[in-house]
Amino acid sequence: MADSPTAHGLDGVARTLLTPLYARAHAARFVPESSFRDPLAADLLARTGYADPEVIRDRPNMLGGLHRGMVFDALTEAFVAEHPTATVVSAGIGLCTRNHRLAERAPGVRWVGVDTSEVIALRRRLLPDEDITLRAASITEPDWARGLPGADGPVLVLAEGVLVYLAPDGVRTCLDAVRATFGPGTELAADYFHPKLAHSDRHPIVKATGARFLFGVRNGARLAQHAPGWSLVREHGVMERLNPTQRVAAYAARALTLGGRAYAVAQLRAHARP
Ligand SMILES: C[S@@+](CC[C@H](N)C(=O)[O-])C[C@H]1O[C@@H](n2cnc3c(N)ncnc32)[C@H](O)[C@@H]1O
Repeated sequence: MADSPTAHGLDGVARTLLTPLYARAHAARFVPESSFRDPLAADLLARTGYADPEVIRDRPNMLGGLHRGMVFDALTEAFVAEHPTATVVSAGIGLCTRNHRLAERAPGVRWVGVDTSEVIALRRRLLPDEDITLRAASITEPDWARGLPGADGPVLVLAEGVLVYLAPDGVRTCLDAVRATFGPGTELAADYFHPKLAHSDRHPIVKATGARFLFGVRNGARLAQHAPGWSLVREHGVMERLNPTQRVAAYAARALTLGGRAYAVAQLRAHARP
């Protein structure tokens, strides 16, 4: 399998999962100062049989992906500390190994992962024994979450590196489906680009995968307003976590965004009434 450049069989937006996987696999090189390590990601990456041009591995992308992952880990840990038997649903799970990284610290959590059929098939092949419920579905379909575990208790939905690739209508359908299925109190965390940056076809990921950025919002409050019945709980900076030199580029982007964040993670909560 590792001999073929397309051994993983992924194309388009599905292929974008390789870049954050590569970042996590190489955490020791890119964020030596942090305790974040993911040896399972390194093993999975090797077994995808990826080809070098399919991965965007410049330092800003690697750091962005790693710090984003750390932000999602931290907000997941905070949620499950409050709700130890919560269900955590990863929408667009790719080959994310959060369920393995946090398993010991969150023993009562039920893990659920949703992605396209090709990605779920690959994940099942590479991780046949993991303790997770997987579903092959598009999160832009109105019933993608129906029947998943979680309707009986607190749910956190993680949309990491995925809403940016959906059309605005698809994002709305996804938020509507989460609220309709899991109900009030459900939380959803998602990263977003500012609209000034979200639609750039010059981003190297476009060349490497064919996927395009289709969605951007000015801030987390705007993301909450994108579908009825959501409010912003908090915003988590990603670029602000970088060291002072790396941060220069992040702040330079603020000129383009008229002071708004170029990229961040928003944590939303669903309500009973719009
Ligand atoms: C950049 S990867 C992120 C993967 C994972 N969340 C991570 O951070 O490692 C984007 C993922 O979203 C998935 N995806 C994109 N559009 C989707 C859709 N409409 N329904 C389900 N999954 C989707 C892709 O297949 C891919 O696995």
